[in-house]
Amino acid sequence: KKVVLAYSGGLDTSIILKWLQITYNCEVVTFTADLGQGEELGPARDKALLLGIKPENIFIEDLREEFVRDYVFPMFRANAAYEGVYLLGTSIARPLIGKKLIEIAEKVGADAVSHGATGKGNDQVRFELTAYALKPDVVVIAPWREWDLRSREQLIAFAEQHQIPIAKDKRGEAPFSVDANLLHASSEGKVLEDPAQEVPDYVYSRTISPEDAPDKPTYITIDFETGDATAIDGVKLSPATLLAKLNDLGRDNGIGRLDLVENRFVGMKSRGMYETPGGTILAVAHRAIESITLDRGAAHLKDQIMPQYAELIYNGFWFSPEREMLQALIDKSQEFVAGSVRLKLYKGGVHVVGRSSPYSLYDQDLVTFEEGAVAYDHRDAAGFIKLNALRLRTLGQRKKKLGL
Ligand code: ARG
Ligand code: SIN
Repeated sequence: KKVVLAYSGGLDTSIILKWLQITYNCEVVTFTADLGQGEELGPARDKALLLGIKPENIFIEDLREEFVRDYVFPMFRANAAYEGVYLLGTSIARPLIGKKLIEIAEKVGADAVSHGATGKGNDQVRFELTAYALKPDVVVIAPWREWDLRSREQLIAFAEQHQIPIAKDKRGEAPFSVDANLLHASSEGKVLEDPAQEVPDYVYSRTISPEDAPDKPTYITIDFETGDATAIDGVKLSPATLLAKLNDLGRDNGIGRLDLVENRFVGMKSRGMYETPGGTILAVAHRAIESITLDRGAAHLKDQIMPQYAELIYNGFWFSPEREMLQALIDKSQEFVAGSVRLKLYKGGVHVVGRSSPYSLYDQDLVTFEEGAVAYDHRDAAGFIKLNALRLRTLGQRKKKLGL
């Protein structure tokens, strides 16, 4: 029996690795992905070897370009935000990791996959819905739901008993839990659990505070093609390098911090802090380029389906027919979403200061207060308003008749 484990190289997934070997007496295959979390992957390989994983059973992949190109960018075409504000940085990474777990399982002939998400959160749902969608007969092992290691002390004791190296700073209780990738860093739990208490400064890792940001604004331009960002200040960049560059710009200007209480799919509310520097800039820029290139009907239809699309991603239904149907609609809308957006970044704010496009629908002749546009006759507006008012007048008459 073989099981493919989503392995970060950290203490918790190392304990899981050992626990799988002992509990299921199985061959463990590890998968470690670089999603831009900002950690070296070499140590994960060394640790896996140390824990007795055969070299041919250690899989390490750089997924940064695939992540941004095939997951982040398609999602940003939709202007997706869960509950109005969360840019889904953790949610969107899970289907990619899940997909890779299954690909590796197929390659090595494993019948099971395993992950380190807890039994209380969204991530277990996202990993497992992905796994079942792509390999219907897969066996999922979620140690956090199965084992009887109930406290940090018990976890540490297990690690010591099985010669799992423990970094000095990992002995005590972690002050909060972090999930990070190229799109965001998210922090939850422990010191963040009381939603009445402000997030302590030391929790932030991706951004300087807006108060400390430069007093001088930074101006940038972002170019778009078919709804995706392609260049910064005229320099073409691959999806992952572009997002990394926006992250730097966002970090330095204190952009993209979010303190949020959200509704988890499993039913409870949770409080989290997100830092999405580059994504926050990108989201503003994308809306700006759409503002001149999308027709009103198209734009408003997109806005209507957005909450549903965001919820599908949040809940782990990336690989579902309804997400794919909505994606097809969104992608179709992006045909002419191209051009440049000029932004001013200043002390935590992202301000649109200019937009232009070869496909712009903005017509200065039409909108100008000066007389002259041929397609618009002021006198037409009178009839337009009268017919639209017909219902309202009828209702008004009834109200009057009833003395209301
Ligand atoms: N609440 C976020 C989500 O469900 C992030 C979850 C993972 N974050 C963490 N710090 N463990 O997408
Ligand atoms: C976890 O529970 O593993 C992290 C939080 C979440 O999945 O919502």
